[in-house]
Amino acid sequence: MKLDQLHSVLEKLADVHDANDIKCIIMLDDEHAIRTVLEYADMVRKRHAGDGILVRGIVELSNYCDRSCSYCGLNYFNKDIARYRMNFGEILNVVGQIRKCGIKTVVLQSGEDEKLNAHWLVEVIAEIKNRYDMAVTLSVGERSFDDYAVWKQAGADRYLLKIETANEDLYNELHPGMSFENRLECSRHLKALGYQNGNGILIGLKGQTVNELVNDILFFKREDFDMLGVGPFIPHNMTPLANEQSGDYQMYLKVLAVTRIVTGYPHLPATTAGEVASQDSGYRALKAGANVVMFDFTPEPYRSLYDIYPGKARQGTAPVDKIMKLKIAAEKMGRYVDYSRGDSIRVLEKVS
Ligand code: 5AD
Repeated sequence: MKLDQLHSVLEKLADVHDANDIKCIIMLDDEHAIRTVLEYADMVRKRHAGDGILVRGIVELSNYCDRSCSYCGLNYFNKDIARYRMNFGEILNVVGQIRKCGIKTVVLQSGEDEKLNAHWLVEVIAEIKNRYDMAVTLSVGERSFDDYAVWKQAGADRYLLKIETANEDLYNELHPGMSFENRLECSRHLKALGYQNGNGILIGLKGQTVNELVNDILFFKREDFDMLGVGPFIPHNMTPLANEQSGDYQMYLKVLAVTRIVTGYPHLPATTAGEVASQDSGYRALKAGANVVMFDFTPEPYRSLYDIYPGKARQGTAPVDKIMKLKIAAEKMGRYVDYSRGDSIRVLEKVS
């Protein structure tokens, strides 16, 4: 594709979400053309979300998981890791540290842990609201409509539940005992309850072709999310996908960029998996459409036990230092670390 032709395709993408155009863009392999795509996404990011880089603090409160997702190190059949659940006091303590760093969103994340008691989590959410007045994002998997409702009532603001792939057959293959339909229904329930709704996919899953990725991006557009996480697959040796290749880093950046161009306003994190895969801690995703960074505050020994994919735990050392690094990186890009709550742009526009 010639460069002037590429520019007109990119301009068209934001209005007409043509599957063939998306496919052409994510199949580009010329370095100059790819750079053009990433720069275009960066411009679209600036137009919708500005130059602020939003920051979140994560607490991984339980690594118990009842699921057996074929890519994930926390899968039920991995008997090699010790399992933990953090207690109320430990969690509140970490949330206090996050707040002390000036961060106003906490993400409470866990495996799909059935024994994570819904009423206990109500207490956790209420106490965070009471003590720290922060935005609370939950990421604890598929639960009942009632659980989602009581957590919302307790003050939870946002929910992350990734589809991982929007291809139903591939989804069902990678998630034994789970159903695509139920996951989608959970996501729609969350939206109906008024949560700011997050979704996302993995890049480079076994059986995933460019056509699946095109459909994933169209799925994002159709369902209209507030937050979208795109990350490269990284093989974990205690999973059925242990011998598969990692997701292609360039493909990850291209899909992230096209996601920004097509969807416009959602908050897009520079995912931890993306940072692990880049190995240069240069936040390349932030120059390709992303506008959020999430810092892992989970204390040891828990952080190392939250072993979703190799290299993840190492990313977590001393969040204060990482925030400092981000500040320096942001300034180099002519941007800044944004300490506001960072609500969904759609929600903010509705209010104002
Ligand atoms: N590589 C990269 N990301 C992974 N996740 C799970 N397993 C892997 C892996 N092997 C991501 C999924 C999941 C989130 C908790 O971590 O997107 O939703």
